[in-house]
Amino acid sequence: MYVCLCKGVTDRRIREAVRGGARSMHQLKDQLGVCSQCGRCACSAKRVLKEAKAEMRNADDAALAA
Ligand code: FES
Repeated sequence: MYVCLCKGVTDRRIREAVRGGARSMHQLKDQLGVCSQCGRCACSAKRVLKEAKAEMRNADDAALAA
């Protein structure tokens, strides 16, 4: 699903960026251009960032428990 239409950024690309180390909207903006033009994607991008960070934490917890 497209999150940022201005820059053609999908939720998948945001999740990949988080797996690559991005942890903030500032980093997503620098890496992908999210929220760098009209700004309408801010809420959706923040939601995907939050979900992706939670997924990373869950994966880390599962790896520690294994
Ligand atoms: S939709 Fe992301 S900056 Fe416009």
